[in-house]
Amino acid sequence: MKNTLFLIIMVLISINMSCTSQKKSSGNNISSDYQIKSSYLLIPVEEKAPEVKIIAAASDTTHQTAFDVHLAVDQIDYWVPVDVKKWKTQLLTLTFQGLTKPVLGSKEIKQSDKFEFEYNETYRPQFHFSPEYGWMNDPNGMVYLDGEYHLFYQYNPYGSMWGNMSWGHAVSTDLTSWTYLPVALRPDSLGEIFSGSAVIDKDNTAGFGKDAMIAIFTSAGKVQAQSIAYSTDKGRTFSKYAQNPVLPNPGITDFRDPKVSWNEQSGQWVMALATKQTVTFFGSHNLKNWTKLSEFGEGIGSHAAVWECPDLFPMTYQGKTKWVLLVSLNPGGPNGGSATQYFIGDFDGKTFTPDALPYPLWLDYGRDNYAGVTFNNIPQSDGRRIFMGWMSNWDYANQIPSKHFRSANTTARELTIVNNGKHLILSSYPVKEINKLKREISEMPGLHVNKEYVITELLKKNEGCFEIEMTIRPENARIFGFSLNNAKNETLKFNFDNTTGFFSIDRKQSGLTDFNDRFAMGMNAPLIKRDSYKVRLLVDKASAEIFINDGEITSTTLFFPSEWMNQLRFFSQTGTFSVENIKINNLK
Ligand code: FRU
Repeated sequence: MKNTLFLIIMVLISINMSCTSQKKSSGNNISSDYQIKSSYLLIPVEEKAPEVKIIAAASDTTHQTAFDVHLAVDQIDYWVPVDVKKWKTQLLTLTFQGLTKPVLGSKEIKQSDKFEFEYNETYRPQFHFSPEYGWMNDPNGMVYLDGEYHLFYQYNPYGSMWGNMSWGHAVSTDLTSWTYLPVALRPDSLGEIFSGSAVIDKDNTAGFGKDAMIAIFTSAGKVQAQSIAYSTDKGRTFSKYAQNPVLPNPGITDFRDPKVSWNEQSGQWVMALATKQTVTFFGSHNLKNWTKLSEFGEGIGSHAAVWECPDLFPMTYQGKTKWVLLVSLNPGGPNGGSATQYFIGDFDGKTFTPDALPYPLWLDYGRDNYAGVTFNNIPQSDGRRIFMGWMSNWDYANQIPSKHFRSANTTARELTIVNNGKHLILSSYPVKEINKLKREISEMPGLHVNKEYVITELLKKNEGCFEIEMTIRPENARIFGFSLNNAKNETLKFNFDNTTGFFSIDRKQSGLTDFNDRFAMGMNAPLIKRDSYKVRLLVDKASAEIFINDGEITSTTLFFPSEWMNQLRFFSQTGTFSVENIKINNLK
C-alpha cells in the first residue's frame, strides 16, 4: 500500500553522542550529567513503559525544570526534544526519579542541534489542526485578535500520550491553516495547566495593559484552582500573575475549565466553571477577585459523569437573544465515552434559566467531538459563533494509531440556533473558509438506487481529503444509506432508518480498529423523518464529519483505513431512493 511508503523515519542529524560525564545514584534516583553543547536533548520514549519524572537542573543556577516521560525500557518508539539552548556550555544534571539503575532510555539520551521527525505520517490531517508533535486534547483559550485566530490547546510536549499538561499555541488567519508558536504556558508550582479560556482586556480592567490577552486556566496540582496569565505582545509570551490562584479551591475536587467572557448586562466578567456535576458562574470586575453568582445543573441534563469545559454565550434567534450553555461530560455520551451536551435558555448576567427542552441535547452524535468551546472576541462585523472541538474520545484517545502526534481538532464550525420542527436545537456547520480548499469539483448526474449503486472511482487522485455533497430523497426506501469503501474491503457506513427514526454510522470494518476494544462501537443519532436529507461529508485522512440538513444532525467519526476510500456505494434494504446534486471534490 502506498501509505506504507510513509514509514516513520526518524532522522537525527548532527548528533553528538551523549556527553554524559558521570552517572550517579542516590537512594531511589539515578542521575546523569551532560555538558550541554547542542540545542536539544533527545529523550527516547516507549509508550508502554512507565512514566519517569525527570528533573533537569543546571550547574550555575537554581533554576530547574521537571517533566514526565515514558522512558524507553525495551525499545525506542520515538524521541522527544528538550530544548536546552538556555543551558549551552553549562553542566546539566538530569535526575530520574524512581530509577535505581539506568534503562535503555536514560542511556540513549543524545544531544543534537536538530529535532527531525516524519511530520507527514499516514494519518496526519491536512485541513484540521493537529499538534506538530506530541499529545493534544481540549482546545483552550480560543480568542480572535487583530486578524488572528489564536488556538491554545492541552498539550504534552514530551510524548504523544496525555501528561505534562501545558498550553500549546497556534495562530491562523483563515481557520484552516495554522502556524505553530512556542508553548504558551507550562506547569508551575501550582500544578499542570488544565483547560481554560482567554479574553482581550479592552478596558484594562486587570491592570496588565489595554488590550492585554489574559488567559484564565485551571492550575491542577494537589487541588484544582483558577489562575491567570497575561500577554501584552499578542499572545507571543505570557507572564503568570504573581498572586495566583485567583479563585482558590473551595473543597470541590472537580473544579476546573473556566470559560470567561465580558457580560454587558451585569458589566463584569463572567466565568462559567465546571464544578463536579454543575456549572457555577462567578463574576469579577478585574479578573482577579471572583464572587459566586449562581449554580446551574442539578436535576437537568445528563449526569452520567463529571461535567467539564463549559461555555456560555449569547446567540440571536429570530431577532431575540438566547443563551447557550455547552457542557462536556465524560463518560456517558449518547454513544459511549466523551460527548458535549447543551442547554438553551436565558442569562440575566447572573443566573442561567434553561428553556423547557428535551434534555439531554447533544451537540454532535459522533464519538469524536469533545471538550469543544467557542472563540471569544469575534468582531461584531463578523458576528459568528465559531466552535472547535477535540476530535477524539477519552475511551481510546491515548491509543489512536498515530505516532509523533496524537489528536486533531474538528473543523471550525459555525453554531446557530434553529428549530428542527419539534423544538430549538443548536446546529453546527463548517465555517465558510473551508470552501476555499475545494479542488477539482465534479458534479454528477442524479441517480436512482434500487438495492445498490456503486460509484467506483470518487476521485482520480484520492489522497484521503475530500468532500461529498448530495441530497438524498428516501422516496419509499426505509432502511438505506451509503458507504465509503476501498479495495481492501474496508468500509465506513452511513445508515438512515426512516422506520425507527435513526441515523447511524458503522466503523467496525473501516480499517484499524483493534487498538482499543471500545473503538469499533457504533453510533446512533435520532433522525426526524424528512422528504430529503441534505448531506455534507468532510473526510480528512482519518476523520469523517457529516452534517445533515445544514447541521441539524452532526456526527464526527475517526477511522483509520489501510488505503484511502475511493468508492461510494449507495444501498437500500427496502424500496428505492434517489440522490441528487452530487458534488465531489478534493479538499486542500
Ligand atoms: C477534558 C479535561 C478537562 C481538563 C483537561 C485536562 O478533556 O478533562 O476537564 O481541564 O481535560 O487535560
